[in-house]
This record gives sequence, structure tokens and C-alpha cells, in this order.
Amino acid sequence: MPIKSVRDTDVKSRYVLLRTDFNVQIIDGKISEPFRIDASMQTIKYLINNGARVVICSHMGRPKGERNPELSLRVVAEYMNIPFVEDCLDKSFMSAMKDGDVVLLENLRFYDGEEKNDDTFAKQLASGFDLYVNDAFAVSHRAAASIVGVTKYLPSFAGDLLIKEIENISKYLNNPKRPLIAFVGGGKVSSKIGVLKKLVSIADKIVIGGAMGTTFNFAHGLPVGNSLYEENMSDIVHEIENLASQNNCEILLPLDKGVGKEFDKNAKRENRNANDIHDDDIIMDDGDKTIARNKELLENAGTVIWNGTFGLAEWGEKWGRASFELARNMAHFTKTGKIESIIGGGDTVAALNTCGVFDDMTYVSTGGGAFLEFVEGKALPGIVALESKKRM
Ligand code: 3PG
Repeated sequence: MPIKSVRDTDVKSRYVLLRTDFNVQIIDGKISEPFRIDASMQTIKYLINNGARVVICSHMGRPKGERNPELSLRVVAEYMNIPFVEDCLDKSFMSAMKDGDVVLLENLRFYDGEEKNDDTFAKQLASGFDLYVNDAFAVSHRAAASIVGVTKYLPSFAGDLLIKEIENISKYLNNPKRPLIAFVGGGKVSSKIGVLKKLVSIADKIVIGGAMGTTFNFAHGLPVGNSLYEENMSDIVHEIENLASQNNCEILLPLDKGVGKEFDKNAKRENRNANDIHDDDIIMDDGDKTIARNKELLENAGTVIWNGTFGLAEWGEKWGRASFELARNMAHFTKTGKIESIIGGGDTVAALNTCGVFDDMTYVSTGGGAFLEFVEGKALPGIVALESKKRM
């Protein structure tokens, strides 16, 4: 069911509670990746330009109901150059707000009522506002008070970013240019079972990489040395592969690996075939044959969807080679109009930025877990809450 856009209502002089996902990475007190903040600017500017009194709320990290200065959103208010309110339930500043004013509230998760979707907390948060706008796609898979609970108390609408995410991801998944190839990496098969089971039914090929690739290779009896992988996932791996063959979806595993002898970014990198990993090898990236194979796949793809890095990309070029080459090749074939590329997930987005190819992709989602659940076809509580509002 379609949801109502904030553009369908009058916001002038209204007190608007705007939920964003400003859960950004902070390194040494600085925002290392402002993508999520920048992505909500369109909604924020729309509200300001149309005379709303905008109060932005967000979470940051997982403080579990405790005040934790390291997880304060003050740094985001400074980045945006807007006033900051130190308690998300403080309403005292609101009477002084004028049309077009905007402030940012402190981390919602400093109260445990937020994650518990506590009704009293939701009511307190909503009090004093005229309407609520959800622009936080990236946390809409959480049934939190500021995502679901508040919609009981306020007329509720979707912001531009939320609508853009729903429309774009749906468009490329429901009507992809074929063949559709999914590149799935990252640490754990166990965190991606649902999305893999869904992908086998819509993708023509799935390329498994990174530590997940090691888990798949292990399930096939290949040596994995001293590497990170999930030992108890072999049954799931075979189940996913059976589902894939029933759906004519081909699963491609790493052919070779970049290995070192120490878990250290300065370790010497060697290339090893997947069937020749030594007992003392630590797999830290996919290997050169796999990288070349992936490039060839891209050359013949129509649409690609990518979530999860294929090695330790956060350690730079030496152990990020498979991810960075994938990013660069994806960018190249997207720019030349050969493929459509849809990317989701924080580490994957960071890899795009490291290579300077973020802007070359067809669509980059702000979601990590939410992106996966949306692709999986799950109903996200934040979207469902807005849909039920429509019926009221
Ligand atoms: C994310 O970074 O995926 C969202 O902000 C949700 O955060 P959470 O996993 O801590 O709920």
C-alpha cells in the first residue's frame, strides 16, 4: 500500500518530529562518512523552505539506555551547523522556535524506551508535535518507539529519502535488466541466510565472497587454514545451493584467495588456489583469479546488486583488492551504460568511497540491515506503521 509523502501535507508553522538515521561512523571525534546525513538533507531543506519547525531525532550506536558521551549526536549537530538539544525528551526550547528553524535532539537510545518501543516513551517523544516524518530507511527494520510507537500519536508521513529508497530498490529488484547478478560478501553466512534464500529466486547468479566464501568453500570440503569462517553453517550452505539449483540460479564461489601468515595488515600477501590453502594460512581477501572472474561476470551482467566486502577492505589496498577491483569495475560498466548497479551496506559503501566511485553507481542505499531485510521481502515495521496510518 502506498504511504503518504510529507509533500502531501501542509507543514507551515507545524512542529515536525523528523526521524532520521544519523548513525554514522565517528573516528577520533570526527564523522568519517556523512553519507546518511547528506542523504536526508533534501527532506530537511524541504521542511525548512516550507516553514516547518523541524526537530530532528536519531539514534547513534547501541548505548542500551545509558548516557554515553562517545555516542552523543552533538558532533552531527556541529557538522550540520544547527542547534543541539541535550535530552531528546526536553520540550522547553520548542516555544521559542520560529518557522524554518531546525534543531537536533540527543541520541534517542540514551533511553531504553526507544529500542523497547515503550508506549510511554513514544507518547512523551511525540508530545508537543503536530506531525511526524520518517526519513530513516536505514533503521526502519527496527520496531522502535521513534519508528513505530510515535505513529500512534501523530499524523505520520514519509520523507523523501524513505520514499526514494523504497522506489529505487523495488524498481531494480522487481524489473531488473538481465542477467541479474548478486555479489554477496561480508563476515557471516548466518546473518544473510534470509537474503540469500530470496536472492536465489530472483538472481541469475550469486557470487559469494569474503569470509562467507570461506564458509561456503569449507562446506565443500576445501581447506581453510587458520581463517575466519563459520564451521556450523554447512547444512545451510547446501540448503541454499539446492534452492539455487531448483531456481536455475548459479552460485559462484571464490576460486582462489589472498592469504597471509599473520592477521595483520602488513602481513605478506600470497595468492593461493582455494584447494591449496595451507594449515597456517589466514585468508584475508579473495584472490586474483577470482577478481578476474568477477570482472568477466560484470562484463556480461545487466543488473548487479552488491552487499558485503570481499576481504579486509578497511585495511587498505593490499587486503581490499578484491573489493576495490569489484567497485572499480562496477563503476566502469555502470558509467558506460552496460549495467545497473545497486549497492547497500556500510562497509560496502566505505569501499566505494575509498575508490572514489560512489557517485558512479546507479543507486546506493543508506541501509545495511534494513537494505538486506527489504531485499529479502520482509515487511519493515517503520514502513508498515506508515501504511497503517494511511488506513486510519
Ligand atoms: C544501521 O546502522 O544499520 C542502522 O542505523 C540500525 O542500527 P542498529 O543495527 O544498531 O539497530
